[in-house]
Amino acid sequence: MLTRGQKEKIIEFSKKCVEKNDRWHRFDHLEMVAQNAIMFAKKEGADPEVCEVAALLHDICKAEPGDHGTAGACKAREFLLSIGADGAFADAVAEAIHFHDKESRDRSPESAVLWDSDKLYILTPKGFVTRMCPFWLAKLGEEEGLKKAIYEYYFFLERLNTKTARELAGKHSGLMERLIKELKK
Ligand SMILES: [Fe+2]
Ligand SMILES: [Fe+2]
Repeated sequence: MLTRGQKEKIIEFSKKCVEKNDRWHRFDHLEMVAQNAIMFAKKEGADPEVCEVAALLHDICKAEPGDHGTAGACKAREFLLSIGADGAFADAVAEAIHFHDKESRDRSPESAVLWDSDKLYILTPKGFVTRMCPFWLAKLGEEEGLKKAIYEYYFFLERLNTKTARELAGKHSGLMERLIKELKK
């Protein structure tokens, strides 16, 4: 169990690390993922504190070149140990962060929760329009960006791990289908 002081240090560290991230991966994203992660963890029998901290730190290396999951896992583990967090706790957080940007058939419950918490918003009409589409359009231009955003929608929809996230995404799927049909026109 982390102390209030340790939690404050984690938030401070996270905010500092993500300052240079693109506008879709700054602290507001981490906070939203953390809220989802706590809710999913409670429903799915994962450790809520591991999920919350993994969510708060999962994109701390997003602005660096290379694999931001692996780099973020190492940096988060080192930081958690430096503030006196338990070794097993730091390892569990690092594992979830390591796999948040990689496919895996053998996820820990916390890794499953982090993956789903990170992806759920972009599978809703609001998240798709305000986050997924602008992100890919800025990277690839209008035509290719839209194709990629639609591809990613189905990619992540099929790869949700938890029943809770699948149910929530399912509630939006009818509207998402109509939206995608309109966007393809
Ligand atoms: Fe990420
Ligand atoms: Fe993320």
